[in-house]
Amino acid sequence: MKFFIDTANLDQIREAQALGVLDGVTTNPSLMAKEGITGKNNILKHYVAICDIVEGGDVSAEVIATDFEGMVREGEELAELHEQIVVKVPMIRDGVKALKYFSDKGIRTNCTLVFSAGQALLAAKAGATYVSPFIGRLDDISTDGLNLISEIREIYDNYGFGTEILAASIRHTMHVIECAKIGADVMTGPLSAIEGLLKHPLTDIGLQKFLEDYRKGNG
Ligand code: E4P
Repeated sequence: MKFFIDTANLDQIREAQALGVLDGVTTNPSLMAKEGITGKNNILKHYVAICDIVEGGDVSAEVIATDFEGMVREGEELAELHEQIVVKVPMIRDGVKALKYFSDKGIRTNCTLVFSAGQALLAAKAGATYVSPFIGRLDDISTDGLNLISEIREIYDNYGFGTEILAASIRHTMHVIECAKIGADVMTGPLSAIEGLLKHPLTDIGLQKFLEDYRKGNG
């Protein structure tokens, strides 16, 4: 399972990278705005800064256009920016056409804002590299986000689709574990969801006892 961090915050990306388990980064226009990154040049420079931190990891950069020509123009520019860039395309009619266009040109894509198995099937048919079902946002409206991951896993396995399931809108550590059990290829979430995997009180209690016993015998 690949671990992506879902942020545009460079300090958090550095921290996750330093842990040694980071495979990539996902961003979106809201996350960029949260970090105060505005203006085309600054946004493009920020993507390059992220790519430089994650050393070989995939970095999703989202198009803003919602028409086919605009998405193609922006996506090609993003893809040329750095070899680690994956062009993030929304699941809308022109987005599906753009996914197919990018796939035919060998440009890697992440189909975002996916909320149903049908949308995920369409993304795979269009040749998306990644599909991003937003499980937290489904949970927010009393719909089982994890069930969507299971449905997509089953459909993709039935036909051997190569599109990777990128479980997105992860909110906490249990989401990560449940997605791993189902067989999501990738998860993207906040640093807290990754660091939560570390924690167990018995680990802390056990380590404290080991160190106390060592000190008793060794001063
Ligand atoms: C995925 O690529 C999205 O950026 C992200 O996971 C959305 O998560 P949110 O629902 O926490 O905003």
